[in-house]
Amino acid sequence: EKGGYRHFMLKEIYEQPRAIADTIRGRVMPESSEVVIEEFGLSEKDITSIDRIFIVACGTSYHAGIVGKYMIEELTRIPVEVDIASEFRYRNPIITQSTLFIAITQSGETADTLAAIRQARSLGAKVMTICNVIGSTASRESDFVFYTHSGPEIGVASTKAFTTQIIALYLLSIAFGKIRGCLDDRTISMLIEDLLHLPASVENSLELDNEINNIAKELFKAKDFLYLGRGINYPIALEGALKLKEISYIHAEGYPAGEMKHGPIALIDEEVPVVVLAPSGRLYEKILSNMEEVKSRGGTLIAITSSDGESAKRLSTYSISIHGINDYLNAVLLTIPLQLLAYHIAVLRGCDVDQPRNLAKSVTVE
Ligand code: M6R
Repeated sequence: EKGGYRHFMLKEIYEQPRAIADTIRGRVMPESSEVVIEEFGLSEKDITSIDRIFIVACGTSYHAGIVGKYMIEELTRIPVEVDIASEFRYRNPIITQSTLFIAITQSGETADTLAAIRQARSLGAKVMTICNVIGSTASRESDFVFYTHSGPEIGVASTKAFTTQIIALYLLSIAFGKIRGCLDDRTISMLIEDLLHLPASVENSLELDNEINNIAKELFKAKDFLYLGRGINYPIALEGALKLKEISYIHAEGYPAGEMKHGPIALIDEEVPVVVLAPSGRLYEKILSNMEEVKSRGGTLIAITSSDGESAKRLSTYSISIHGINDYLNAVLLTIPLQLLAYHIAVLRGCDVDQPRNLAKSVTVE
């Protein structure tokens, strides 16, 4: 049932090109530069009347939500707030009938997320759930459902569910951006064309597996890791740190790279590997200066950069290159090496990758 892979997690990491293709299937019409959203049940009027979006989720799904904030705000100009479900429900959120509430949950059974959905509905918001499990409680209790169709995810550490949640948010951003007049047809065609290249680029990222395993062999004894990213890659840094924590039991933190100098840089010494997300793009120069800060304090830099990221490679002890597509989809491509790094480190430490201690696949208690 593991299809020849040693663990479900590894199988699910490798399934991502197929999973992403399944999330996209039937939802884009490249000829007419359109995202097809009829199946979700949202009308044009629903979309034009939204004045604010709340995204609420837990764990990895929460990280996808932060990625979604960057995409939705940029492509639709609708203000987005992202909250952890267990926090959302214990404050007094400002919700009106023009609020679209988006819950993100792989399982559709996470108790905190379900409680947040119920609260949002009772306050009058329309609720959309981005979910992987068909017929789950969250999908039954929502006004609109976006199924990611990534297939069953067995490993406790979420992998393909995360990358397909990002794709769902990308598709929604394009659809909303079009209806609200923020995107012209040419831009939409480009965004869709880029998306159609993604499965093949994810395959390229998977080919880095051996290289990443070799890096893991050098680093698996470390006690602490830092993950740095900026902009849309900041939540990817959070996700990289979470993957490592949950399956290898190494302490890891994700940080927005520009925040280092406000405290966490004090942690840097030769013992702390620092994984930096440094794809080329508009924040590349900024991230390079953050890398200099780490390097001058003796930190071991591991850069995940683009094929043309020469400066990032020069500054780092280890580097891995992705074939970048666009700023949004690069977030997905950067995730793959982080999943593989966490996986190999956990295996080298002899951890139970698919069933980490103290964790359950879905958390049905609040
Ligand atoms: O099923 P959900 O997406 O609602 O689950 C949310 C979190 O419990 C889940 O993402 C958790 O953080 C994973 N173990 C992360 O790998």
